[in-house]
Amino acid sequence: MTTTDVTAGATDIEVIPLSGWTGALIEGVDISRPLSGADKDAIRAALHRWKVVFFRGQHLDHAAQIAFAAQFGEVTPAHPYEGDCAPPGFPQIHTVSPAAYDRRYGSGYRHREGWNGPNWHADVTPLINPPSHSILRAEVVPPYGGDTVFTNVAAVYQGLSPSVRGFIDGLRAEHRFGATLSYERSAEKIGDLVRSKPLASIHPVVRVHPETQERVVYVNQFFTREIVDLSPRESRYVLDLLFEQIARPEYSVRFKWEPGSVAFWDNRATLHLAPRDFEHLDHERVLHRVTLVGDVPVGPDGRESESLAGEFFGAA
Ligand code: SIN
Repeated sequence: MTTTDVTAGATDIEVIPLSGWTGALIEGVDISRPLSGADKDAIRAALHRWKVVFFRGQHLDHAAQIAFAAQFGEVTPAHPYEGDCAPPGFPQIHTVSPAAYDRRYGSGYRHREGWNGPNWHADVTPLINPPSHSILRAEVVPPYGGDTVFTNVAAVYQGLSPSVRGFIDGLRAEHRFGATLSYERSAEKIGDLVRSKPLASIHPVVRVHPETQERVVYVNQFFTREIVDLSPRESRYVLDLLFEQIARPEYSVRFKWEPGSVAFWDNRATLHLAPRDFEHLDHERVLHRVTLVGDVPVGPDGRESESLAGEFFGAA
């Protein structure tokens, strides 16, 4: 395994890349304690290069996870649809587990997701300012199964031919919570949520990353309903082409969780795939996520996203 030292100042951090494009393991730091400036710089630089970074064997509770996140930006509430599901005293914590999803959305939600095939996504892209980063911490993990896969959407953009890049650079797409899974018709809690509190925005299909200036493919299977500049049929073909490129194995990394593992990713440069391979087993999987306040996406032509429904998602 190659070891890369990206440090600028005094830090013991080691950045160990895990695939050719995406993901690096960060060693040599206890993230339950305040980070030095050099540690933060090293972690930010690794995120810019690898889009998602992983830590092992960390000892974080909810408060320490929030404190870690707050060193990289403002922490959002758990989720626009969290309601009263966050753990008492921690409105920033979004728990990821089958039981938490059933409580939040109703039990049909996960089944419908399963039927729809792989749902690559970045977190809550229907918002006008989707969270910039997510920090996910494992508390209970199954002995096997339940891995999360991440991909690098700057690499996906670079891998397209120049003509296709030029074509998609000017397009915009609608992202809507629940639309790709027809939750608007659901009789369950998720149906009430998306009907009473719809979340939708028009985002550029190609987003310019505000820190690295890289162009990234900014559509995803979970939230992107259609490309608004094309006919529905044209939109379907173009989205399918992009979704196929997003799923190319060479851009991805697969992360096997252990209790105490933490993943920290940039939602503006990566998509992830939540696992569906453990729910038929009699094993628990409980993780906790916090997200950072994001910026409003901007396309290569300088145009910002537009909100169709929902509020700016500010700090908790
Ligand atoms: C998420 O989509 O943020 C959760 C990913 C996971 O369950 O691994």
